[in-house]
Formats: sequence, structure tokens, C-alpha cells
Amino acid sequence: MKLNIALLPGDGIGPEVIEQAVKVSDAIAKKFNHDINWIHALTGAAAIDAVGEPYPKETHEICLKSDAILFGAVGHPRFDNDPSAKVRPEQGLLKMRKDLGLFANVRPTFTFPSLIDKSPLKRERIEGTNLVFLRELTGGIYFGERGRLDNGNTAFDTCTYSRKEIERLAIKGFELAMKRSKRLCCVDKANVLETSRLWRETVQSLEKNYPEVKVSYEFVDAVAMRLVQWPNSYDVLITENLFGDILTDEASVISGSMGLMPSASVGLKTSLYEPIHGSYPQAAGKNIANPLATILSAAMMFEDTFNLKEEADLIRRAVDSSLEKSIVTEDLADGNKAFKTSEIGDWLAKEILS
Ligand code: IPM
Ligand code: MN
Repeated sequence: MKLNIALLPGDGIGPEVIEQAVKVSDAIAKKFNHDINWIHALTGAAAIDAVGEPYPKETHEICLKSDAILFGAVGHPRFDNDPSAKVRPEQGLLKMRKDLGLFANVRPTFTFPSLIDKSPLKRERIEGTNLVFLRELTGGIYFGERGRLDNGNTAFDTCTYSRKEIERLAIKGFELAMKRSKRLCCVDKANVLETSRLWRETVQSLEKNYPEVKVSYEFVDAVAMRLVQWPNSYDVLITENLFGDILTDEASVISGSMGLMPSASVGLKTSLYEPIHGSYPQAAGKNIANPLATILSAAMMFEDTFNLKEEADLIRRAVDSSLEKSIVTEDLADGNKAFKTSEIGDWLAKEILS
């Protein structure tokens, strides 16, 4: 099969972890006789430095023409410490999500049996956790009207959602629930926010189309708490953009390292796959970052975009086996031998071809 994949490494550790995902994907292509055409494109601070904007038109065109996008991370401390910066790397990510219509961000949280004691949470609380957040990604307060009043001394951001935006995300949630345990949790703040009341109303009106799905409605503050108390009580959760941003970072800790969790952003035109961690500038260029989240994102890409389940499962089995043998980067090494980012990629590629 011919696979056209846009490759956007971005900033910080992005290029290093992407390189390992490419190694692993190329090993898969060799083993299963696929032909991957990687099309490199600029994004984030790297794009600002090269062409003055974080999501150049050329990158957008490459993304539109590709079957899927593999993305590293964006962000640079030079912008974080300068609130007055007019152009920021993160704007590129937001523009990309909006322009490509990537409205559903799929963020799973699961545990690896061999890492269960690395989690800050107790074994009995997290064993068996296997949940998925569907975070709405192109609306809400991230994209609402914002500004300053009162000579700059007052600021506002607004959260807006249309029924249509909620509906298309919720339908994905119901469909996913049907493929899993048929349980769906709608996370909102309907006791306070009007947008949340529209979320609840919209999800309630869809319930009749999925009579087998048991829907629960929970407030975001309560979910934040239950997520660390009994994460294994959840299955599919749907929520708006900002709640999803915060809760998925919280959930990622359950697995033992933020460097482990993959994600997909599913859109109208194409889909994008990326690790849920950020650009981790402190580690950039040191060859120490954990590449597994990006490699597992590539596995999601093989399965979801290309329908290549056997290939995806082989990547996941190789990752499980590396963890069982403690072939891990320093975030998981516990003072034992830590492998380099590139060594993990080499080991997995070899394992896949063995
Ligand atoms: C994420 C990130 C982004 C977000 C930032 C980098 C804009 O935190 O993908 O979760 O807030 O959506
Ligand atoms: Mn985030």
C-alpha cells in the first residue's frame, strides 16, 4: 500500500521523537511491503524562524494532500517568557487544527502491566484503566472572541459552541462507545455555564439514536477528582476544548509517564497523530526524551487512517516487549540503565523486523 504521510517534527524534542517514529514506521513498511512517502513540512518556532509564521501555507497544502499527518510538538521558551510576542508557535497548532477541521481529539489513557508501579497512583486504583477522552478541538474558549478593555487593564476570552459543533463530536463519542463498553460520560459544567447546558441538551437529544449506550452527565470538577480516585470506572468521555485540555494532562499521569500516551485529531479532511506531551525544551537535543508516545501515535495512524491493524498491533507488541525488558528512557529507568531516545527507536525497528 502507498502511504503519503506529512511529517511535522516542530520544536524541542519533536524532531528526536519523530525520527524514532519514522524508523519504526519504515520497519513496518519493510516488513509488510508498504511504500511510505514522507513529506517534510515546517511548523512551530522552527517555521517562525524559517519563514516568519508558525503554520505556513505550504505546510497547510502538504497536510491537505497527505493521507495522514504525523506531528511532534511545538513551543519554545523564548516565546513563553515574552507575553508581548505577536507570533507564537502554539498559534500554528491552533491554526492548523482550525484550518484542517480537526475537531475531535482522541486521547486514550491506559496502563502497561509492566509499568503499573511507576504510576504515582496506587496499583489497585489504576489497574485495568482503559479510557478515552474525545476532546472537542476547534471551538470553545480557545477560538472565541478575546481582547482587552479599560486601557488594557481588563481582559476577556469568550466560550462559544454551536449545536452542530457539539453534535459532530458527540456522535463520534456515541460511535466509539458502541465499539467499546457502551458507556459514555459527558463532562460539563452545566450547573454554571450556558455552553455546558447546550452540550447537555444536545447530547441528551442524541441518546435516542443510541439506545444501547448508557450516558452519564458529570461536572468537570467532580470528574477531575474521580479521574484520580477511580480512573478504571470510566470508558469514553466527551468534553469541550479547555476541559479536555486540562483533564487529559491529568489522565496522562496515570500510565506512569507523560511520555507514553498517543493521540489522534480526527478531522473533516485528514487526521493528525501526535504525542500528548509537549516540546519539553529542557531535554531538546539531549537524546533522552521518551519516544513511545509518538511511536504509539504512529500505531494509531496505521490502524485508524490506513486500516492496517496487524501493523499497528505489531508496533504495540514491540513497545510492550521493550517495556517488559526495561529498554526504557530515563523517565522510566528508576536509576537503572537508561537508554537513549535513538536506541529505543533502533531496538523497536529491529524487534519489528526480527
Ligand atoms: C495540547 C496543548 C495545546 C493545547 C497548546 C500547545 C496550544 O497543550 O495539545 O493539549 O492547549 O491544546
Ligand atoms: Mn494540553
